[in-house]
Amino acid sequence: MRISHLLAGWAIALGATGVHAQTDVNLARNLAATCANCHGTNGQAVGKDVKPLAGVPAANIVALMAAYKAGAIPNTTIMHQIAKGYSDDQIKLIAGYFAAQKPAQK
Ligand code: HEC
Repeated sequence: MRISHLLAGWAIALGATGVHAQTDVNLARNLAATCANCHGTNGQAVGKDVKPLAGVPAANIVALMAAYKAGAIPNTTIMHQIAKGYSDDQIKLIAGYFAAQKPAQK
């Protein structure tokens, strides 16, 4: 009785962990989708106006977003405003998503 109770508890704990990881993946993709209008689907922009984000190391994206947020990058048209709309945790998720995407073939 006791042991099965314990096992059931573990199963619930493990299940919850799995759900959480899946939620993060979906959340990352949904957040990254808000950048697609300008940076291309999955960050694979091919035009010359806006740089692609696919395959850019997550640390670079996090650093750039932090710099935009802080107003440290001059001559920005829109990113200083966009960066302010996301929490640091959301930016980490977005950066991880784009870093894992394959750059578009040119
Ligand atoms: C409305 C169009 C638009 C959207 C939406 C947008 N960006 Fe940008 N992004 C730009 C433009 C334009 C630049 C060039 C800098 C500027 O003018 O602000 C840029 C530059 C960047 C850069 C710097 C690239 C480099 O190598 O210098 C990063 C990183 C970036 N954006 C990340 C993002 C992320 C992450 C999102 C989604 C949360 C996003 N952008 C959404 C238009 C956009």
